[in-house]
Amino acid sequence: MTLIDGKATSQQIKAEIAEEVKKMVASGLKAPHLAAVLVGHDGGSESYVAHKIKDCESVGFKSSLIRYEDDVTESELLKKVEELNTDPELDGFIVQLPLPDHINEQKIIEAINPAKDVDGFHPENVGRMVVGLPGFVSATPFGIVELLKRYKVETSGKHCVVIGRSNIVGRPLSILMSQKEMNATVTVVHSRTENLKALCASADILVAALGRPGFVTADMVKEGATVIDVGTTRIKSDQTKSGWKLKGDVDFDSVAEKCAFITPVPGGVGPMTRVALLKNTLLAAKRN
Ligand code: GUN
Repeated sequence: MTLIDGKATSQQIKAEIAEEVKKMVASGLKAPHLAAVLVGHDGGSESYVAHKIKDCESVGFKSSLIRYEDDVTESELLKKVEELNTDPELDGFIVQLPLPDHINEQKIIEAINPAKDVDGFHPENVGRMVVGLPGFVSATPFGIVELLKRYKVETSGKHCVVIGRSNIVGRPLSILMSQKEMNATVTVVHSRTENLKALCASADILVAALGRPGFVTADMVKEGATVIDVGTTRIKSDQTKSGWKLKGDVDFDSVAEKCAFITPVPGGVGPMTRVALLKNTLLAAKRN
């Protein structure tokens, strides 16, 4: 069994990005600049955004954090998006999700200038990805594909089963895996799927992206499969300083024994998601 080390891989990619930024700045270009909009004080969102800002610093990007309280109105937020869309100093920005219930998330996403949508959530970028045109691919699918490539996991002709059909992970990943570069045969399974366990057990590559801790057990995994765990449920813990720890969608201890490759949580897909945002921001800066 090979442990897919997302942390080490992301550090390697970060070093590659930092090198590129150094060259850009040395040639008189400005460093890429990412902004993050954070609404409210949700613990998970606070932590994700803090990491994104820290990541920017570590590769020489400029970063800005724009904060709003929970009671910000939709129109205030739309006005800020419009401002960021046309700010010549900014290469890309993200609006951290989820947003409070009184704000229509889709409306905010669709208001973002697709050329600055480094999350790759705007329907224009999703559409470009589907038909194989250049654009921004959302960070988690982008990070997973990069991990599979760097670990030379055979995907061509293989059966890839994706558990979960979210707009951010499952659906875009299923499309990327079926495209010519990866050439996998893809099945997307979800809460209404019949024979879900048997389908999972037929996968050469099994991606768990449903957000249910420990959902994938050993009986659902084929001997020699590659298992990618996208789950990051925050569980209360008295063993960590922060008071919580991350739990994946895969029951790691029992499943790992059967796998050729497996990603841990934490330290698997998570760091790759973060580095994918940096890659998209660098791409945005180059395009601008
Ligand atoms: N919430 C959870 N993941 C993400 C992400 O990748 N981008 C944004 N903007 N919000 C998120």
